[in-house]
Amino acid sequence: MTDIQFSGDKVVADFIIHNLAVAVIYPEPYRGQGTAVGWEVEEQKEVSIASFKGVIVWIGPSADLSDHVMIAADARFYNGEGLLATPGFVDSHTHLVYAGDRSDEFEMRVQGRPYLDILAAGGGILRTTGAIRDLAEDVIYEESAFRLESAMEWGVTTIEIKTGYGLDLKNELKMLRVIDRLRRDYPARIVATFMGAHAVPAEHRENPDQFVDEICNVWIPEVARLKLAKFNDVFTENKAFSVEQSRKVLEAGLKHGLKAKIHADEVNVLGGVDLAVELGCTSADHLLMTGDEGIAKLKESGVIPTVLPGTSTYLMESHHAPARKMIEAGLPLAIASDHNPGSCQFLGAGIIQSLAMLQLKMSSSEALIAQTLHAAHALAMGEDIGAIEVGRRMDIALFELDSFRQIGYRVGQNFLHDLIIDGQPVFSGEVE
Ligand code: NIG
Ligand code: FE
Repeated sequence: MTDIQFSGDKVVADFIIHNLAVAVIYPEPYRGQGTAVGWEVEEQKEVSIASFKGVIVWIGPSADLSDHVMIAADARFYNGEGLLATPGFVDSHTHLVYAGDRSDEFEMRVQGRPYLDILAAGGGILRTTGAIRDLAEDVIYEESAFRLESAMEWGVTTIEIKTGYGLDLKNELKMLRVIDRLRRDYPARIVATFMGAHAVPAEHRENPDQFVDEICNVWIPEVARLKLAKFNDVFTENKAFSVEQSRKVLEAGLKHGLKAKIHADEVNVLGGVDLAVELGCTSADHLLMTGDEGIAKLKESGVIPTVLPGTSTYLMESHHAPARKMIEAGLPLAIASDHNPGSCQFLGAGIIQSLAMLQLKMSSSEALIAQTLHAAHALAMGEDIGAIEVGRRMDIALFELDSFRQIGYRVGQNFLHDLIIDGQPVFSGEVE
């Protein structure tokens, strides 16, 4: 983190968003100590936010700016008049790199065919695996870049992207290279997760344990050596990976410096939450079926529970993740899109926020914190991003709205005006 510099008693700034109508501030940001504190945000009016080398150095009433901030000679100003500033959204769980179309499966599911049945019949994840193996890296890149742009257009400044459609070393590395290329080409912060244990491919169907051994002994060491992923994830589910297999995969990752994530309790409760707590996973995701016992265990851990309202909606589940119970238990709940070609085509951050409210009964304030600060913790970035606070990165979403409460309320309508990442405007370049 850049040290904040002072000139006399003024703080030095090289980028200022001035005259903002409203900025959303989190009075008691979660500091990663187990229990979420403030779920109520504060809307400050007529404020300016100043940064230096991409780090927020001052937030205060626009009228006080010149008393507290020393404007560097080459400083740039961004006119915030009429705009609402929220922290940039953090989408901490996506499968955004993929290719091909599964709209026929969507129709089948609408007619009642279960998601796991489609997977067991060689469709689902395995269908996308066929596309990833067949298509050129450039084609996969182009399709994925389009979706990344769309996510950013909805206010996302940080996004996690998983592999898991290659399912052999060559094609998993192909996916990691696509993610890496997106990271280099776009200003968004992109976090890569290796998910070789997403499904058992056809060639290993007879011997899934051997497939797991290959992931642990060959793929993970190679992915770690190439430094292409921060996290290692596993789909712990019937027709995917058992708890024992998942333990092996996650332990192999941890041994090689890959932090652990887990897809747990999405359809069946197999013990994924216990495993997440035992291994100290950074996050446990889905948690649709998690009960009181699982919530109590999560409470004793530093695992960030991440729920995905887009997926339970898209899968037409009658039941959704117990977000209210988690919030009432004091858990630092995160929400994310889980955007993928089969179980969730929702992508826009604002829509995920609407779904968190409509399906999970979260308040607009809870949804916003879950989708920014807590999601940042789900990526082990909770110290640096996720809130408008002095010392954090200047990652901000600017909306043509009067209040953050309108983001979820105006379902499916996008009022994003611009994004600021590291103190750099992304879209309009409206700098004075
Ligand atoms: O997170 N749950 C497993 N994997 C994805 C679905 C991927 C797919 O269907 O392509 C998910 O929901
Ligand atoms: Fe997922």
